[in-house]
Amino acid sequence: MTAPGGEVTGSDDFDVVTGAFSYSGAAIASGLQAAGRRVRTLTGHPGRAPAGTAIEVRPLAFGDPAGLTESLRGARTLYNTYWVRFAHGRVSHETAVAQSRVLFQAAAEAGVRRVVHVSITHPDPDSPYPYFRGKAAVEQALGDFGLAHAVLRPAILFGGNGVLLNNIAWLLRRLPVFAVGGSGEYRVRPIHVDDLARLSVQAGKSTETEVVDAVGPERPTFLELVHFIKDAVGSRSQVIRVPGPLIPPAARLLGLTLRDTLLTGDEYQALADGLADTDGPATGEASLTQWITDHKGTLGRTYANELARHFR
Ligand SMILES: NC(=O)c1ccc[n+]([C@@H]2O[C@H](COP(=O)([O-])OP(=O)(O)OC[C@H]3O[C@@H](n4cnc5c(N)ncnc54)[C@H](OP(=O)(O)O)[C@@H]3O)[C@@H](O)[C@H]2O)c1
Repeated sequence: MTAPGGEVTGSDDFDVVTGAFSYSGAAIASGLQAAGRRVRTLTGHPGRAPAGTAIEVRPLAFGDPAGLTESLRGARTLYNTYWVRFAHGRVSHETAVAQSRVLFQAAAEAGVRRVVHVSITHPDPDSPYPYFRGKAAVEQALGDFGLAHAVLRPAILFGGNGVLLNNIAWLLRRLPVFAVGGSGEYRVRPIHVDDLARLSVQAGKSTETEVVDAVGPERPTFLELVHFIKDAVGSRSQVIRVPGPLIPPAARLLGLTLRDTLLTGDEYQALADGLADTDGPATGEASLTQWITDHKGTLGRTYANELARHFR
C-alpha cells in the first residue's frame, strides 16, 4: 500500500537502498524502480532528495539501532552501499565496519530476507590497507548475522557523477603536467555504475549466496587510461612517470588547495599493487573508453569534491 506522497506503508512489498541520493545507491534505486519495486532509502543526506521523488526517506542513523530496525521492517531486500572512502575526522574504516555491523544486526532483527552488499575487489583480512581489511570484515559480518546475501565486488566505478575519472580529467584540463606513480603499468577494471545496478537488481532476485566481481570488459593500464582521457578531453598536459612515493605528498598538496582529499597514500598504493584489477570474466558490459568518448565534452569541467559530498 502506498500513502499519499509516496510513503511506503503497512505490508507493502518494498526494498531498502542505502544512499539513494548519492552515487551507486542512486543507480540501484532507479534500477529497482524501473523493475517495478518500491524503494525506501536510508541516507545521511535527506536534503538531496530530488523534488517529487517516489523514494521514501529514512535516516541512516547508526546511533539509533531501534530506528534502523523499524526502517527495515517489512523490506524484502536491503541493498547496502554504505562505506567511507577514507578516514577523516571522527570517521574511519574501523568505525565503518562497526556501523555496518549495526546495520546488518538491524536487518536481521527486522527480518529482511536478503542483503545485496556492495564490497570491493580483493577484500582481505590480512591486507595492509584498512579499507580492504575492513571490507573483508564487513563481508564476514553478513554471515555472522545469518543474513542470506549476495556480494558484488567492483574495482572502480564510472558513469553518472563519479569522482575518479572526472577528477583525472579535471586535472588534465588544468595542469601543465600530470604525474603517474611508478611504471603506471598496473591495470584497472572499471565497471559502469548502471551495470553494477543491473547486477545488484539481478542478485536481489536470486536466492543463492553468491560473490561476484563486478568488473567491466576493459582493463587498461593506469597510464593508458590517463592518456586516453587526456586525448579525449583535448588536454595539452604532459603525462610523466614519477617515483611512486612522490604521489601521496603531491596529492596532499593539491588536496590542500582544493580543500579535498584527492587521493590517499593507501589508495595510490593499492592501485599500484593491482588491487583494482581481476583476472576473471567481465560481468559489466559498458565500454569504459566509449563512455569517456561520449562524455568528453563534460568530463572534468567541474571538480568533484569528496569531502563536500560526504564529510561536511
Ligand atoms: N565509487 C567507486 O569507484 C567504488 C569502487 C569500488 C567499490 N566501491 C564500493 O561501492 C560502494 C558504494 O560506493 P559509492 O562510491 O557509490 O558511495 P556513495 O554513494 O558515495 O556512498 C554510499 C553510502 O555510504 C554513505 N557514506 C559515504 N561516505 C560516508 C561518510 N563519510 N560518512 C557517512 N556515510 C557515508 C552514503 O551516505 P549518504 O546517503 O548520506 O550519501 C551512502 O549512503 C562502497 O561500498 C564502495 O566501497 C565504490
